[in-house]
Amino acid sequence: METTDKQFFLTFTGVTAILIIIAVLVLIIANWIGHHAGEDRVSQAQIQLSNDRIKPVGQVNLKSQPVTAVAEDPTTIVAVAASTESNSLAVVDAGEKAYSGICQSCHATGIADAPIVGDISDWGKRLESGKEKLYQSVIQGLGTMPAKGGNPSLSEEEVKAAVDYMIAASQ
Ligand code: HEC
Repeated sequence: METTDKQFFLTFTGVTAILIIIAVLVLIIANWIGHHAGEDRVSQAQIQLSNDRIKPVGQVNLKSQPVTAVAEDPTTIVAVAASTESNSLAVVDAGEKAYSGICQSCHATGIADAPIVGDISDWGKRLESGKEKLYQSVIQGLGTMPAKGGNPSLSEEEVKAAVDYMIAASQ
């Protein structure tokens, strides 16, 4: 009985020790492979390349903390951009938005003889009467064109912006 217990204990300890050694070896090998595979997959140069590709198109370039050197005083550029461009861009955006909503359903192809956007010969006569007249035609409706082009939720400003956009796109 005593010997059997001893033998069992020895075998058990031996097998456990072997298992532990194997586990440690596997851990070391896995670590080594993982380390090297990682190096191969993404090199520093590749990381740099992807960072370059996804870098923001613009950066805040303060005079006090310049990110990049600029030829002109950055504060002037910002001031000019704010006073002119952003305003006119907003108007164009609103006009394009309104136009591509309901107006283009008739004016892109000339449904019911609507003057076609992009074809200046369709607009020549109408432009002679002035923009104000055109605005009024759309706001009140003209011929087969319903008031506000059939979208009463458009504000007068949006209608005017849409007309401006259509004229600009036709010239
Ligand atoms: C259901 C079709 C239809 C839709 C939608 C429509 N139009 Fe028209 N539009 C016409 C037709 C048809 C005419 C020509 C009317 C005429 O001369 O009798 C016209 C004429 C115009 C004119 C010229 C007016 C003039 O005095 O000569 C302008 C500008 C115009 N549309 C702008 C717009 C705008 C802006 C929208 C969207 C808010 C719009 N239209 C939506 C059919 C449409």
